[in-house]
Amino acid sequence: MRVAILPDEAAIGRIGADAVERLYARKPQAVLGLATGSSPLPIYQELIARHRAGRISFARGRAFALDEYVGLSPQHPQSYRQVIRTSIADHVDFPEGAVRGPEGWAEDLDAAAADYDRAIRDAGGVDLQILGIGADGHIAFNEPGGSLASRTHRGFLTAQTIRDNARFFDGDISQVPAQCLTQGIATIMEARSLVLVATGGNKAEAVRQMVEGAVSASWPATVLQFHPDALVLVDEEAAARLD
Ligand code: F6R
Repeated sequence: MRVAILPDEAAIGRIGADAVERLYARKPQAVLGLATGSSPLPIYQELIARHRAGRISFARGRAFALDEYVGLSPQHPQSYRQVIRTSIADHVDFPEGAVRGPEGWAEDLDAAAADYDRAIRDAGGVDLQILGIGADGHIAFNEPGGSLASRTHRGFLTAQTIRDNARFFDGDISQVPAQCLTQGIATIMEARSLVLVATGGNKAEAVRQMVEGAVSASWPATVLQFHPDALVLVDEEAAARLD
C-alpha cells in the first residue's frame, strides 16, 4: 500500500486523475470502478476537466459502481445510479449503457447481486477501482464485522453510516435507507489497482487502522494491506493519526 499525504483536494484530484489518464492511455477500453460520496468528487471534477480539454476519452471504456441503496427508486436523486450520473457519467463520453451499478430496486436482490459479479467478470474485471472509506472503516458498504471474502451482496448500514450519510438527505436520518446492495470485499480486491481517497479529520482513525492496524473484519479497509497495487490519497487531517 502506498500512501500520499497531499495538501488539498485539488492535489488529490490531480493524482487520482493521473492514474485514470495513464490507464486510458495504455488501455482505452479499460474498466473503471466508481465510488459515490464526497471523497472521489475532486477526482471526478479533474477527469471532467481533462475530458473537456481533450486529454481523456471514455468512449471505449466501461464502468461499474461500487454499491446502491436498497429502497430508493433508480430515479431518486440520491440513488447511486443518479449520483454517478450527475457527478461524472453525464459529463464525459461513456457510451450508452457502459456505466452500470448494482440494482438495489430488484425484486430478487440475491439474483441481482450474482448478476452484478458476473457482469464485472464478463467485462474482464475492473482495472482501476476508486474508493472512499467510511469513518467506521467500511469500503463500499462492507461494514465492520462482515466477511472479508464476500462477493456482491445485500448488506445493512451501521448507525454511524446512516448518520454520516444523512447529509445527503437534508440531514434527515429517517430518509437514509438502512440496506444496500454492495460489491463484496473479494469483488473489490480483484480490481487490478485501487485508488482510495480519504479527507477530513473524521476519517483519521479509519485511515490509521487501514494503514497501520492489524487486518481485521472490525476495520474492513485493513484488507487493502493485502492488495498488490493500492494507492491511498489523504489530506493532512485524514493522515493526522498516522505514525
Ligand atoms: C460509496 C461508498 C462508501 C463511501 C464512504 C465514504 O460508493 O462505497 O464506501 O466511499 O462511505 O463516503 P464519503 O466519501 O461521502 O465520506
